[in-house]
Amino acid sequence: MGLFERDAELGRIGALLQAAAAGRGTSALVEGVPGIGKTALLAAAGDLAGGRGFRVLTATGGELEQDLPFALIRQLFEPALRTAEPEVQSGAAALAAPVFAADGREAAVGSVVHGLYWLCSNLAEPAPLLLAVDDAHWADEASLRFVSHLARRMADLPVLLLLGSRPLAPDAALTLALGGVDPVRLNLAPLSEHAVGRFVRDRLSPAADAEFCRACAQATGGNPFLLTEAITALRADRVPPVAAQAGRVPGLQAAPIARTVLTRLTRLGPEAVRLARALAVLGPAADLRRPARLADLPLDTATDLADLLARESILTGGYPLDFAHPLVRTAVYADGTEIRRAADHRRAVEILTAEGAPAEQLVPHLLAAAPSADPTVVTALVAAAANALGRGAPEAAASCLRRALAEPPAAEDLPRLHAELGRALGMANRPAEAAPALRAAFELSTDPVTRGELALDLGAVMVQTGRPDAAMETFELARAALALDEGELPLQLTVAFSMASFVSMHPPTSWIARLDQLADTVSAETEAGRMVLACLAFGACATADRPAQVVGELAARAVAGSLPTRDHWILANFASTALVMADRLPEALDVLDRGVEHARTRGNLAEFRYLAVLRSRTALTAGHLQEAEADGRAALALHEVDGDRELPLAAAVLVDALAEQGHLDEAQAVLTEHELDSEEEVRMLIGHFVHLARGRLRLRQQRPRAALADLLACGAGLTGAGVVNPGFAHWRADAALAQLALGEPTSARDLAEEELVLAQGFGAPRAHGIALRTLGLIEGGGTRLDRLAESVDVLRRSTGVLELAHSLISYGSALRRAGHRTDAQRHLREGLDLASRRHAHPLAAQAKQELVASGARPRRTLLTGVDALTASELRVARLAADGETNRAIAQTLFVSRRTIEVHLTSAYRKLGIQSRDQLPTALGA
Ligand SMILES: Nc1ncnc2c1ncn2[C@@H]1O[C@H](COP(=O)(O)OP(=O)(O)OP(=O)(O)O)[C@@H](O)[C@H]1O
Ligand SMILES: [Mg+2]
Repeated sequence: MGLFERDAELGRIGALLQAAAAGRGTSALVEGVPGIGKTALLAAAGDLAGGRGFRVLTATGGELEQDLPFALIRQLFEPALRTAEPEVQSGAAALAAPVFAADGREAAVGSVVHGLYWLCSNLAEPAPLLLAVDDAHWADEASLRFVSHLARRMADLPVLLLLGSRPLAPDAALTLALGGVDPVRLNLAPLSEHAVGRFVRDRLSPAADAEFCRACAQATGGNPFLLTEAITALRADRVPPVAAQAGRVPGLQAAPIARTVLTRLTRLGPEAVRLARALAVLGPAADLRRPARLADLPLDTATDLADLLARESILTGGYPLDFAHPLVRTAVYADGTEIRRAADHRRAVEILTAEGAPAEQLVPHLLAAAPSADPTVVTALVAAAANALGRGAPEAAASCLRRALAEPPAAEDLPRLHAELGRALGMANRPAEAAPALRAAFELSTDPVTRGELALDLGAVMVQTGRPDAAMETFELARAALALDEGELPLQLTVAFSMASFVSMHPPTSWIARLDQLADTVSAETEAGRMVLACLAFGACATADRPAQVVGELAARAVAGSLPTRDHWILANFASTALVMADRLPEALDVLDRGVEHARTRGNLAEFRYLAVLRSRTALTAGHLQEAEADGRAALALHEVDGDRELPLAAAVLVDALAEQGHLDEAQAVLTEHELDSEEEVRMLIGHFVHLARGRLRLRQQRPRAALADLLACGAGLTGAGVVNPGFAHWRADAALAQLALGEPTSARDLAEEELVLAQGFGAPRAHGIALRTLGLIEGGGTRLDRLAESVDVLRRSTGVLELAHSLISYGSALRRAGHRTDAQRHLREGLDLASRRHAHPLAAQAKQELVASGARPRRTLLTGVDALTASELRVARLAADGETNRAIAQTLFVSRRTIEVHLTSAYRKLGIQSRDQLPTALGA
């Protein structure tokens, strides 16, 4: 049957399908009041898509299924998976396996969603995909998490995600899931008077006259469902469709509709009412046995009654047994009191349990049943929660545990249930709700070890909710109650305390002493022991309280062997930062490579993007500018997609990587685009990175005053937090250069000297060499030459190659000006060589200029095809040259396959090649 007045909407959907088929996926939201025709439109869209060669997958949110783990997503994909090639579920898509079959272990929340993305991408490979999700306002939260994830990453998938929903409140779960996505919106309007007329003549009688039709339009407001109901009523009452009868058209609105449905139902007698209620409580049923049992009716009677209900358009008349429309179900379900419904659900639990129904089917009824302090209910809910965690749906687990607590359970089970609820909420990324649950568990527990373990979880959510000081107190309280030889727990609590203190911006001096005491006794074999070492290495480096050599060893011990599974990224963070400060850059990069790989194989996006930022910053320090840029771009893109609060950090690192290559306009664009360009203070901790990157960019942009302001702000923040090591951020050196440019050599010298003292004391060559160079540039005459020569010497021992290039070129320039031509040229040539091999274009240009001024003729640097590749193209091309497939590369870099294709096509063009097998040669050239 055709739809009235939906041509415009279908036209838009047609266009979206066309775009999706061409690889430009989108999401669209069909919104409208109940009965306006969303389901009908989605069905029409499905037909349209099917006709165009799309594969159509459908799912419908169920009012009773909102707390079932991935209910919607399973409905959507399960039928396709039954017939799919095993390939579809391999690679990163395998991470989604627990959604469809929990294996008893807990599934990592982020990774299943990532796996689902790849599953969807793989399913869309043979033919474009329409995902039609109706009644999305009833979607379970875990499914919405995927909807949100997918909707942000569709632009280059051949997929149209079409959602149908009743009008959404601003704080509805679906609204929040689509926040920042901006789906195409299709708001369904009521049918016009004209269409109502056609509708009435079509369905009731071709002879219906105009006034009668107008009365129908008015009575129903053009809502097709209400119209259908009105026609059913008119037909039942045999009302002739003529003007004189217009007054008999029932005044139907959404609320009174319940009354007409119920009147119709009541007429069929009390047993029919009981059967309808049973169906409303149980939800769609495969056969009549359960509804009959719940309604206390013999099967034969139930069959007759179901037939009668179908004739009265209350049921559909087919299988599975269901109401003619969700609105009819709601009318039947809502009739009567909550007491009645809760009792019916309780009875449903009994019936299903007696039948041995799968535990998951019990969940909706367990949740809606009246509390009765029944231990079997608690047990069933706890089992359902475990199942939900196994599928990677902690939200659903939390609902079950909340309900279990309300039953209530036996007193001795309370601490455990609160703890499990808290943990589930923590995993669902709802720390504000997790905190009170964990606190309750912590307070109800008496055993010090249990309390210690709970303190770790409670403190972590406190830090997340911006209360690091409260977290520190909790860690302390729990630790004080433990004997020091109580396994790893005291160590874990001490490390957690140090990290909270760091987040709180307390100087590390407050916790270093305690870690020092532990460091001699801990074993680097244990996870907690490694954390102690990494944390101490970081704190000691930041405060520069002992020589670089000593802290470098601490950090190296922390990361020897494979990384621990728990909190490995925190370890990688602290240890790599310490290694950077100690000027052991290759080791720092190695730790981060391993950390990134770890996050990747687990599909953990949050860790991946955080570590990619760190790797970008470290690659930059090590002078791998292209790597730094590629990493920085990848990380920033991931932060952008998920609207992450660490986005400014990712942006700052990319700005620095771009500026170092001389791409000042691009660097500026990144700042502007992410609104990091105002003079406003940026949030601390992350703030100093922004100040630093922006200050350095300003310096290159010849805006020394603005640069100085930023660099001093960076310094104030770091110093306040006790981070004084110039190896962490040489803001003093950069600020001194800004002061020099502003004609303030005295303050410049003061700052540079301060930096030199700190760097010398610490003894890592990179920071030391930078300080010497800075001072050299401030001084004049012979002192300048001495300082610069020393800087070159010191930096020859550094792993930061580009800093050596900087100093060589500064020294060479100074030598030229002092008339030492040959010596100048020698240093400039060496610097030029290093700089151009590292793509440090501005530095290379400076060296060339100086060489020309010294009378030399520098070699022309040949721009090969490889040099023309962007950082991202080069990375992709290298992976492809290593024999990786596009799919594997996409999974490695957490981007879509199409992005890889685009990069490769562009790389082929620039390299002048046609195929993959030519890549190794082209890149090797
Ligand atoms: N444009 C239309 N022309 C003719 N009939 C329609 C049209 N739209 C909907 N209908 C019919 O009206 C009834 C209600 O529509 P539908 O079930 O699609 O509404 P809905 O918006 O999905 O409601 P709900 O929010 O309750 O799910 C259905 O029987 C449907 O076939
Ligand atoms: Mg509908």
